[in-house]
Amino acid sequence: MDIQKVISEMTLEEKCSLLSGADFWHTKAVERLGIRSVMVSDGPHGLRKQDDQADHLGINDSIKAVCFPAACATTSSFDRNLVRRMGEALGDECQHERVAINLGPAINIKRSPLCGRNFEYMSEDPYLAGEMAASLVQGIQSRNVGTSVKHFAANSQEHRRMSSSSEIDERTLREIYLPAFEAAAKKGKAWTFMCSYNAINGVHSDVNRWLLTEVLRKEWGSDAYVMSDWGAVTDRVAGVLAGLDLEMPSSGGVNDAVVLKAVREGRIQESDVDACVERILTINQRYLDHARPDTPWDKEKDHELAGQLAAECLVLLKNENGVLPLKKGEKVAILGEFAAKPRFQGGGSSHINSFRVTSLLDAVKDISGITYAQGYRISSDETDEALEREALEAARQADKVVIVAGLPDSYESEGYDRKHMRIPANQNALIEAAAAVNPNIIVLLYNGSPVEMPWLARVQGVIEGYLAGQNAGTANRAVLWGEVNPSGRLAETMPIRLEDTPCYLSYGGEGNTAVYSEGVFVGYRYYEKKKVPVQFPFGFGLSYTTFEYSNLRLDRERMKDTEILTVKVDVTNTGSAAGKEVVQLYVSDRESDEVFRPVRELKGFEKIELQPGETGTVTFTLDQRAFAFWSVRIHDWYVETGVFDIQICRNASEVILSAPVTVEGTKTLPLTVTEDTIFMDLRKYPAKMAVLTEARKKMRGNPATGETEDQGSSDAAQEAITEDMTAAMEGYAPLRNMISFTGGQANHEDLKQIIDAMNAAE
Ligand code: BGC
Repeated sequence: MDIQKVISEMTLEEKCSLLSGADFWHTKAVERLGIRSVMVSDGPHGLRKQDDQADHLGINDSIKAVCFPAACATTSSFDRNLVRRMGEALGDECQHERVAINLGPAINIKRSPLCGRNFEYMSEDPYLAGEMAASLVQGIQSRNVGTSVKHFAANSQEHRRMSSSSEIDERTLREIYLPAFEAAAKKGKAWTFMCSYNAINGVHSDVNRWLLTEVLRKEWGSDAYVMSDWGAVTDRVAGVLAGLDLEMPSSGGVNDAVVLKAVREGRIQESDVDACVERILTINQRYLDHARPDTPWDKEKDHELAGQLAAECLVLLKNENGVLPLKKGEKVAILGEFAAKPRFQGGGSSHINSFRVTSLLDAVKDISGITYAQGYRISSDETDEALEREALEAARQADKVVIVAGLPDSYESEGYDRKHMRIPANQNALIEAAAAVNPNIIVLLYNGSPVEMPWLARVQGVIEGYLAGQNAGTANRAVLWGEVNPSGRLAETMPIRLEDTPCYLSYGGEGNTAVYSEGVFVGYRYYEKKKVPVQFPFGFGLSYTTFEYSNLRLDRERMKDTEILTVKVDVTNTGSAAGKEVVQLYVSDRESDEVFRPVRELKGFEKIELQPGETGTVTFTLDQRAFAFWSVRIHDWYVETGVFDIQICRNASEVILSAPVTVEGTKTLPLTVTEDTIFMDLRKYPAKMAVLTEARKKMRGNPATGETEDQGSSDAAQEAITEDMTAAMEGYAPLRNMISFTGGQANHEDLKQIIDAMNAAE
């Protein structure tokens, strides 16, 4: 389709009509010009295609589909290929069902464990979230189906999600809340983005021109169209100017008419509308040109894939005395209603109508020696004495006990936040009571976000099962019985208490104002800096084998920030089982004069599979961004010259190997000299310093200390004033001290001249 030509043939009314949906899930058509409507559907971990009775809250049914593991689980795989494979399957499903755009991935940063939608989000770490998002986008789009990366941006809470303003400083936005979107745009080349409900620093995302146009399109070079989250439009005319192309769902023509009127009254240009229309049509045509409704959808195959993927995502958190893997022939008691009715997905718009669900009990039917007792009711927090008694009896008789516990649907969902990190009291009570009658307790958790584990010291094994999709049971069995060696690593820190979390004092905000006061210190960036003990650190996860690291090598010891550093490290499987290791590379800036920096930040990860005794080499390449912070002085990434440690870590708090590299920054931060500029800050600017030195030669006093040459100081004074103190006093002295302490040798006019000369010097 020649889109320019079509636009030139459209009436203004027709153009404006395309700026909003035809209904809940479709864009509009203009039949006389051959413009076809396309369908969009949630997303992100399955297909929630609704025929009629549409809603965006997961209330009404959608077609029978396959629920893949949620992002809390898939991101724990630290495996780009895994999410890509899932994306390919999702893309095929969309093609089969004539869905042009899958509404995902959802990649907001997990700022607090309380966010009701954390199960759908990827990580607390922007680099990990970005890499995984880009791969998922690539997987889906490889099938000529679009993605809608959401919720752009800074939508890290559900509380007041439609009215709240995320108050975030520039550096924190750039370093924490935007990079995952940047990767989805630059690396993933996402076809569309979905603007968030919330405002950022007082400006709602739908009308945020800086976000939608300056950053997304101009800086990141994205050709995506932006649609609104469902009902996120606050001002449609301002939205058109900001770069919000499509309003979803339909507003029944109300807002199209508002835009039409604005063009007719000359408040906006017709070309502003054209730009939106062109972006929408261009992207939709990508799908229409490659629509393949004959693509087969083998649900059985995707069910199996969902199980295989899930097994790669589970995180083994504790394994004392080799309690795991379970061995065939052992008498195993499985306790907990979740074993029969797994919680495998979260509530809300991502809710999939699964065509089949395989529970743990379904998956272990062929294993002998297993007993099951319900133990508790999912629907209640109260202990049911009879159920608990029966479960404890089963526990007494067994060699080992697997207790399936976690969060019921009502505890976490889209639309609201959690109030605490606890699982229901009856489940905690069952675990404690079982631990008193059997020494071999394994807890398998179903949850979308961290929970308190008050019983941790009294159980031998813990598996973080997350919300692992409709075939969770198969994945759980595979890991429990060692058919798959667990290789998931936490994509988020598991804190001990809610009170320990970085944003405990401000999460949720006051009224509609949510101040992100912890700044860049989100997740492990906070826990490592503050040395706050955690239950399990970011990146943590055990295996049934062991890995040793050796031979860390950097291809250079010194470099400019415009060069690329290549890092290699050898990893050996030193145990007796085949397994996969997630090799994690963090960069640590030893010292920064400019900003507070985290102790270390993840800048590379690779998953490697090794047979027992086998050694493999993992290679990373690091560019400027790996060393940079966002400087608010130049509104850009900036590398400060200095020594950086390249750390190969088992997780965010355990460094295994480290090697230094000296990086020379090639950008300079501009300095505008004023009377308040202090001497210390001038030292990095030799040309300005030279002007100052010349000027000072003409004066006799020391403008920093007030000491003049002919005032000999007494011995007592010399003792009281240490070298450090003199250095500090000189360093911190502002230029205006040249007037106060030179005995009238410099006046305001002199100082102004000196400052002007310094500002003129490069
Ligand atoms: C959610 C989006 C979702 C949309 C359509 C909204 O309430 O925030 O993530 O894609 O509904 O269901």
